[in-house]
Formats: sequence, structure tokens, C-alpha cells
Amino acid sequence: MLRHGGLVAIPTETVYGLAADASNEAAVRRIFDAKGRPADHPLIVHVADASALTEWCSTIPPAAAVLAAACWPGPLTLLVPRAAHVLDIVTGGRSSVGIRVPAHPLAGELLRRLATVGVRGLAAPSANRFGRVSPTTAAHVRADLGDEVDLVLDGGPCPVGVESTIVDCTVDPPQVLRPGGIPTEQIDALLSGHLAAPSGPSRASGMLDSHYAPRCRVLLADTADDAAEIAAGASADGGVVVTIGVGIDEVRYAQQLYDWLREADADGANTVVALLPPASGLGHAIRDRLLKAAADRPG
Ligand code: TXA
Ligand code: MG
Repeated sequence: MLRHGGLVAIPTETVYGLAADASNEAAVRRIFDAKGRPADHPLIVHVADASALTEWCSTIPPAAAVLAAACWPGPLTLLVPRAAHVLDIVTGGRSSVGIRVPAHPLAGELLRRLATVGVRGLAAPSANRFGRVSPTTAAHVRADLGDEVDLVLDGGPCPVGVESTIVDCTVDPPQVLRPGGIPTEQIDALLSGHLAAPSGPSRASGMLDSHYAPRCRVLLADTADDAAEIAAGASADGGVVVTIGVGIDEVRYAQQLYDWLREADADGANTVVALLPPASGLGHAIRDRLLKAAADRPG
């Protein structure tokens, strides 16, 4: 299907991706139609191994080489200067392209087999409708995009549960544009501290304030006591209130986060009270997604 321009949802260790042959413009266009995603939001190209980096970028920044060697396969996306052949529809017309080698065994096997038949990369955003919570199971994908995809490859629940960390290696020092499955502290250590502090509005389009949002409202709590108090207040207003994140570690929180937000909607909850984890390790990514889920929504 992928060789012939099809759209296949694939498991990765982070979230499910909606994949198409990155060199097939018509196939990539279908991704945007299926998701309802604005055309200027670039896509990550998923490749079989780090050696494919040379095929997709014009030069390999030293930081990208270091991070690729240390973290791939894994939940890390590197922004590198694009090679001339990379389609504008993939990069949103930018001079950079996002590349990642996913660690999920099924995705790895698929990418390796495709490479042997001339498909050198799969463009894939998260397999959710635009602006919604990312899918971490095949059932989530079917619920969001069931009719729009040719196939959903079921690889079970995603073990990481939040998207990849995105590091822009086209600037010096490199900068984390999206916290994700590889903790920022680890990136910083691998680059011996040569990493820009996250600052200002992110330059990665698609990182809107309101993103990763369930239908119900999301209220944030700094402590378990706060969470209980906020939940009690919300219950008193009437309606179903769900509290998440209390009494679990960050690994499990990340794994379950999107499933819990979807479940809250499915159960007809009108409020989710979410405990913010500490801002360290995977906690950075969880906090980022929760802040976006809690942000004011357009309309
Ligand atoms: O874990 C992940 O990264 C998942 C799995 C499927 O690999 N993918 C994912 O893709 O989260 P997506 O499209 O939902 O989010 C990728 C983000 C978007 O905000 C996009 O704008 C940004 O990365 N991005 C991709 N390429 C870029 C580029 N060349 N320049 C700036 N931002 C880029
Ligand atoms: Mg996404």
C-alpha cells in the first residue's frame, strides 16, 4: 500500500503515525486531507537508520551526528538542512527537514523492508485529527481516522506515550523545540551543555497554544492536595470530574496521558483535573502537553 501511494497508520514507540511515502507528493497530500491539517505544518520523515540522514539532508550538523548516534532508534526528531529533493509539501517550504528513526520493532521492520524496494522514508504526523489528542493505540486511530486510512498496523499500545523530542540542529547552539520522549537533560548532557535555553515562541509551526486537547475542559494542579480541592470544587458545579496523575510515576503518566484524556471524553466527563509532574525528565513533555490541553481554545 505504501509503495502505491497508500495511507497507513503505523505504531511507533511514541504515538501512532499516519504514514505515506515521503517522496510521493500525492500520497503526502492525502495525509493533510485526512487529518484536516493546515498545509504549512511540516511533517517528520521516518527512516530505517541513521545512515539515511545523508539522503535527506544537505549537510549533517555536528550536533545532529552526536544525537543521532546516541539516541536513534528512539523518540528524537532532528531538524537538519533539507536535501534538494525533499518535497515542499513535507517541509512546509522550509529549508529544514525533521528526521527520526523510530524504535518500535514493527515500524523498524517496515522501514527496513521499504528501503529495499526504494521507499527511503515515510512522512508521518501523529495519526489524530488536527488539534486533537495523539493516538497511542490502534483503536484511537480508528476512532479518529477510521474511514480515511487504508490500513491501521496494530502494534499494541505505544510504550512511551508522548511524542518525540524535537531538536533544531540548523541553529547554533541547537535548541529543543518540543520536549518529548528523550528528556531535555539528556540532550543537554550529550551536547556538553551546548544547547540553547528554550525561549520565545517556538519556531516549529503546529505548536499552537491550544493543542493536544480533549473536548472536556482541563484544569491543572500543582500538588495532590490542590488536585483534590479543584476536583471537589468542579464536582460541586455538577457534572463528571476525572482526576489524573496522582500517585503514579512519570513513565506511566506519559504512557497513559492521551488514553486518559480520550477516555474522559468517552465517559462524558466535563472536567479533567490533571496533576502537573515535576519539571524534570519526562515531566517536561507531560507538562507541555497538559499546558496546551488546558489553554484557551479558538472559538
Ligand atoms: O513522536 C513523534 O514525533 C510522532 C511520531 C508519529 O513520530 N510524530 C509527530 O508528528 O508528533 P506531528 O506532525 O504530529 O508533530 C511534529 C511537529 C509539528 O509541530 C511540526 O510542525 C514540527 O514537528 N516540524 C516538523 N518538521 C519541521 C521543520 N522542518 N521545521 C519546524 N518544525 C517542524
Ligand atoms: Mg501531532
